[in-house]
Amino acid sequence: MAVRTLLLGTNELDRAAALLRAGQCVAFPTETVYGLGASALNPQAVEGIFAAKGRPQDNPLIVHCASQEQAAELVTDIPEEAAALMKAFWPGPLTLVLPKGPQVPDVVSAGLDTLAVRIPSHPVALRLIELAGPLAAPSANLSGRPSPTKAEHVMTDLDGRIAAVVDGGETGWGVESTVVDCVSRPFRLLRPGGVTLEELNTVCQVVVDPGVYGELNQGEKPRSPGMKYRHYAPNAQVFLVAGDRAEECIKELAEEHQRRGCKVGVMVPTEHASRYSGITVLPMGSTANLQEISASIYRLLREADELRIDVLLVEGISEEGLGMAIMNRLRRAAGERIIFA
Ligand code: TXA
Ligand code: MG
Repeated sequence: MAVRTLLLGTNELDRAAALLRAGQCVAFPTETVYGLGASALNPQAVEGIFAAKGRPQDNPLIVHCASQEQAAELVTDIPEEAAALMKAFWPGPLTLVLPKGPQVPDVVSAGLDTLAVRIPSHPVALRLIELAGPLAAPSANLSGRPSPTKAEHVMTDLDGRIAAVVDGGETGWGVESTVVDCVSRPFRLLRPGGVTLEELNTVCQVVVDPGVYGELNQGEKPRSPGMKYRHYAPNAQVFLVAGDRAEECIKELAEEHQRRGCKVGVMVPTEHASRYSGITVLPMGSTANLQEISASIYRLLREADELRIDVLLVEGISEEGLGMAIMNRLRRAAGERIIFA
């Protein structure tokens, strides 16, 4: 029989750290999303992460550190521009891919000779790493589900499959960290996130990997293995509609699917919510405050399931700044169902 997962308060970090040191998996809040942590230097513990999430074995993990010195011990080289990125954005939502040190077990990097590292800025995450050592941690969702932005989301997906969750309330960014490959030249953006491309380019040149837009040539391997998997998908069919005629198109699609007996929901900027009547509206925040939108999209994708919505029509936003990360996640939630109206 499955053992129930402990729900711990942020005053119980000693207990959480003891479980981690004993090789167990513990979920914890970061400033982006909840992570599912295990001791990065213990291969059996890290295997537990893959088992609990049902994560494909070839998708490498990010190691979370509490200091730049700790991160430096896990890699063999830090190019000058990578050090500049660390200085500018750590602690914070930026992950750097660097040459892996031999002491890091291969299971962490899924056999790659590179390692993804970051220093989170969430005080609970930092304290836990100080107590337990570096933590390998993917987002704490079942593989393929929207990333968790609340402890309840982790419980929904992983109760009985992991030792504990530290409940630190809702996370701030809502989308995962920006991932930059610092091994290739020029550096490549592998996943847009909290730190924007515009911000990265104020420090050094970073080009966008075509995999970010799902554009890989036939037979080409993605540089970030995570990019090839369908992600962030609720049970509802998600349609992402962008362009000048998005509103009309969403209304037509809503009518069409309602006629077929489907429960339809629309996820739109809050300032557009009043345009849609007779449909369940999930306001995603204002385009004037993109962090409001990034913080809400995964929660809304999960709420759509709770509302038993069959078809979720999502209005696209501009790709500028944080919009790039938001649109990247929405495209992946929609899979093939992307419409330019
Ligand atoms: O904000 C975040 O980054 C969250 C929190 C918990 O820190 N973590 C997270 O981890 O999003 P995960 O495992 O869901 O996503 C990690 C991404 C995957 O797309 C993976 O393929 C990529 O980083 N990645 C990890 N190691 C890599 C490596 N050595 N080379 C290229 N990509 C790598
Ligand atoms: Mg993930």
